[in-house]
Amino acid sequence: MREQWNSKLGFILAAIGSAVGLGNLWRFPYIAATNGGGAFIFPYLFAILTAGIPILILEYTLGKTYRSGAPGSFARINRKFEALGWFQVLISFLITVYYFAIVVWVICYIGYSFGCQWGDDTTGFLYGNVLELTGGMTEIGGIKTHLLAPFLFVWVVVAIVMYRGINKGIDVACKICLPILLACVVIIVIRGLTLPGAIDGLAYMFTPDWSAIANPDVWVAAYGQVFFSLSIAFAIMISYSSYLPKETDVVNTAFLTACTNHGFEIFAGIGIFSIIGYMAFVQGVGVEDVAAAGIGLAFVVFPTAVSTLPALNSLFGILFFVSLFTAGMTSLISIIQSVITGIQDKWEMTHVKATTVVLVPAFIVSFLFITGAGLYFLDLADFIANNIGIVASGVIEVILIGWFFKPEKLRQAANECSNFSIGKWWTWCLKLVTVVVLGYTTISNLVSYFTEGYEGYPMWVGYIFIAFLIVGAIILTLMKGKEGFYKKPEDAPGYDD
Ligand code: PHE
Repeated sequence: MREQWNSKLGFILAAIGSAVGLGNLWRFPYIAATNGGGAFIFPYLFAILTAGIPILILEYTLGKTYRSGAPGSFARINRKFEALGWFQVLISFLITVYYFAIVVWVICYIGYSFGCQWGDDTTGFLYGNVLELTGGMTEIGGIKTHLLAPFLFVWVVVAIVMYRGINKGIDVACKICLPILLACVVIIVIRGLTLPGAIDGLAYMFTPDWSAIANPDVWVAAYGQVFFSLSIAFAIMISYSSYLPKETDVVNTAFLTACTNHGFEIFAGIGIFSIIGYMAFVQGVGVEDVAAAGIGLAFVVFPTAVSTLPALNSLFGILFFVSLFTAGMTSLISIIQSVITGIQDKWEMTHVKATTVVLVPAFIVSFLFITGAGLYFLDLADFIANNIGIVASGVIEVILIGWFFKPEKLRQAANECSNFSIGKWWTWCLKLVTVVVLGYTTISNLVSYFTEGYEGYPMWVGYIFIAFLIVGAIILTLMKGKEGFYKKPEDAPGYDD
C-alpha cells in the first residue's frame, strides 16, 4: 500500500516547507532590489499568476492523479515521457548534495554566533577559517576535518527523517521546523524595523524603478525566482502530491502554498533589508554598496550586520542562522524525498531499501563539498542545476503536457474535487505564456553558458554535470521497472482516450 498523508495539513505544511527555503531568505530580497525594486512587484505577480500557480496546480494534479513520483507520473501518461521525470530527479540529486553543504555551514555559524566569533573580517573568516578555500577547482585541498562533526550531524538528522517516512518523518519535521522559522523571522523583522537606517534598506528594496518593466531580463528574473521559490520542475511537488488521497482539492492548496510562500518571502525580505539598512547607516555607506545575495549575504554581510547591532548580537546571529537551518532543512528533505519516491516507485523495493539506495551515494558525493574546493563545485553545480536544468525541465514539462497531451483532461481532473473551478486560462498559461518565457530563458542561458562559461570554471566540469543529468536520465529510463510502474490508475486520463 502506498503511504498517504495523515492529514491535508501535513501535506500543506510539507509543500510550504519545501517552497520556503534559502531562496526566500537570501535570494528574493536582492533579486527584487536589483530588478526594479517596488516595480518588480508587477513582473513578479504576473509570473506567480501565469506560471507559478498554474504549474503548481499541474504538478499537484499529476501526482495525485497518477499516484507516482515524477518518472512514474510521466511514464503513466506516455512511456516516452518518462525520461523527463528522471531528468528532474537527477537535478534534485545534484541539488541535494550541495544543499547539504550549505546546511552544514549554517550549523557552524549557529555555533560561531556565540560571541560573534567571525570578528571584523567576515569575508576572511568565511573563506580562510571556515571553508579554507583553495586557489581553484582543480586544487581539491582535502576534506576539512573541522566540518566533519556538523556534516555528520546533518546527515544523521536527515537519515532519521527520511527512514521514518512521510508521516512519521517529514510531517513531524515540518511541524517542528516551520513554527520555529516563523518565530525567528518575526523577531528579526520587529528588531529590524525598529533600528535607525531601516528605512534606507527598505527604500533600497522597494523604491520602484519603472523603466525596469521594459527590460526582458527583469521578467526572466521574476520567472526564475517564482520557479525556484515554489520548488517547481524539480520533481518535488509531484512526489509529495503522489501521497495525497484522490479527493484532495489541489486548486485551493496550490493557491495557499503560493500565497504563503511569496507572502513569507516579502515579509522576511523586510527584516533582512532593514537590518542591512541599519548596518549601512552605522558604517556610513550606501545600502547598494553592501547588499548581496546567497552565500555572500548569509555568511559575509549578515554576520557583519549582526556584529553592529546595539545589543543581543549573539542572539540575533543565532535567530538568523536558525531561520536558515529550519528553512533549509524542510527543503532538503523534500528534495531527497523526490529522489526516493522516483526509485521506490519504479523498482520492487521497500521504503528502507529505496532510502538507502539514495542516501548512501548522496552521502559519498557530498564529501566533495566539504573539501577546500567545495564552494567552487557548489557554485557551478548550483548554476547548472538552476539556470540550465530547472528551466529546461520546466519548458519540456509544459510542452509535453500542453502540446503532446491533453491539458484539458488534467484541468477536469483538478476541477473534479475543487470548490472553485479553474477556467481555460489555466491551459493557455501553460501552453503559451510559460512555454514562451521559459523557452526564451532556457535558450538565452544555454547560449550564454556555451559561449562564455560561468565564472571561469573549467568547461569540462560543467559538461560532466550536464552529461550526468542527460545520460543518467536515459539509463534510468531504459532500465526495466516493475509491472505496475507503467500502469496508470483506472480513473486517470490516458494518452489515447
Ligand atoms: N524553494 C526552495 C527555496 O526557496 C528551493 C529548493 C527546494 C532548493 C528544495 C533546494 C531544495 O530555497
